[in-house]
Amino acid sequence: MSQPILELKNIHKSFPGVKALDNACLNVYSGKVMALMGENGAGKSTLMKVLTGIYSLDEGEIFYENKQVSFTGPRHSQQAGISIIHQELNLLPELTIAENIFLGREITNAFGRIKWSLMFAEAQVLLDRLNVKHKPSQRLGELSLGEQQMVEIAKALSFKSKIIVMDEPTDALTETETASLFTVINELRAEGVGIVYISHRLKEIFEICDDITVLRDGKFIAQRAVSETDEDSLIELMVGRRLDEQYPRVDSKHGTRCLEVKHLSSSDFNDISFTLDHGEILGISGLMGAGRTELMKAIYGALPYQSGEVLMEGKVITVNSPQQGLANRIAYISEDRKGDGLILGLSVKENMSLCSLKQLSHRLQLDHAAETLAVEDFIHLFNIKTPSKDQIIGHLSGGNQQKVAIAKGLMTRPKVLILDEPTRGVDVGAKKEIYQLINKFKQEGMSIILVSSEMPEVLGMSDRILVMYQGQISGEFSAEEADQEKLMACAFGNNIMEKTA
Ligand SMILES: Nc1ncnc2c1ncn2[C@@H]1O[C@H](COP(=O)(O)OP(=O)(O)OP(=O)(O)O)[C@@H](O)[C@H]1O
Ligand SMILES: [Mg+2]
Repeated sequence: MSQPILELKNIHKSFPGVKALDNACLNVYSGKVMALMGENGAGKSTLMKVLTGIYSLDEGEIFYENKQVSFTGPRHSQQAGISIIHQELNLLPELTIAENIFLGREITNAFGRIKWSLMFAEAQVLLDRLNVKHKPSQRLGELSLGEQQMVEIAKALSFKSKIIVMDEPTDALTETETASLFTVINELRAEGVGIVYISHRLKEIFEICDDITVLRDGKFIAQRAVSETDEDSLIELMVGRRLDEQYPRVDSKHGTRCLEVKHLSSSDFNDISFTLDHGEILGISGLMGAGRTELMKAIYGALPYQSGEVLMEGKVITVNSPQQGLANRIAYISEDRKGDGLILGLSVKENMSLCSLKQLSHRLQLDHAAETLAVEDFIHLFNIKTPSKDQIIGHLSGGNQQKVAIAKGLMTRPKVLILDEPTRGVDVGAKKEIYQLINKFKQEGMSIILVSSEMPEVLGMSDRILVMYQGQISGEFSAEEADQEKLMACAFGNNIMEKTA
């Protein structure tokens, strides 16, 4: 193998109570895509933050273009040709797309005036390259989460770096956006850029990467060529053991009718009707943008609907706010954990019990002992990697934050639990733990709506599956009838076209 352009050697890094990196190593090669893999909390993001100088290292060495380096911060590493797309978005919604891309290095004339037309033109070139159909002058906040992620990617491209680190870049992207990103990655590879690609999606790793480095508990475990490995051995390297059946569906006796939605319509969806029994998992499949999240938010009370009704155990309920949703025992776990789920500055405990303070109170007094007990139970149940319940949630790894978000919903003891892309950013082992928990609550009679873009997940977990296309239900299948082809056809609206043809 050729000489690496970047070598991270025997890196150690501790935070109070946490050994995040414990002899981590990584090589990056020009013109190649290196996957960095490992379970939630394995140290992937931390290693990249040590590289770019966001964190200082306790021990270890970094060699870049054969010279030992130590960057003082992202600006410094950027000037040297290393840019990073962070796992959590770092953009300003109030500014335009172009301003976000060129933040802090606006193109100015000799008098320090911003040259808007030049800046917009350069931004346009980047957006075109990524196939983003928005004007550079548009406010970032008006874009979908996936489109904002594309802007973050455009920003990284604008530096014309020798190395680009991508930390779970496709998490919020649609299939089309992912395809555009992969085209650009292939171009960058051909131009000789070295890429570090972090993702929990094995399919993507095998599609776009050349080599794989695995970390476990902050330790370097192995470096392999993608062509010389397969999914099973990769999982074994990451988890340290073999995993059997990934989607453990359990059969449970359906109870009585729990939720019923009748002819619900809004600007985002049209005439939606379905039922959900106690102890049933209803999968909702479809492409991003099909209206699934909007429908779920309407049922929970976070978005208005214009007509139709929602019934809980046979009674029509009013859900004009999330508070009313919760009062009717409907909990919704958002797909956007940072934007509208967790409060990053609060502790694990405060986040988890945020929606359950009423249940945890006695005569208007919060029962602190009960709160602590419940929170510690969930930390244990979900195997959440945190030094304590009082850790600031922003310091947890992405996947562990996601587990807290799910625990927060469960803690309200809902009758209907709506999970919107619950395993996004969650590693293979933890995914299975989450599935097993969902099954446990299902067997206790909880009704679950599972919105997911991952076909195997919907197929493997649901008792019944609805597919949405452009705001309408385009198909309904029992677990037995459903397969990937049928769901795909409905997700693309093909069956609708057949019907009308
Ligand atoms: N600023 C911080 N303060 C305290 N602990 C931290 C901080 N940043 C990371 N950690 C801890 O370091 C460990 C490694 O976290 P890191 O975010 O690098 O994991 P990761 O491999 O990126 O996981 P994921 O796949 O979930 O994103 C975790 O236990 C995390 O809680
Ligand atoms: Mg991470």
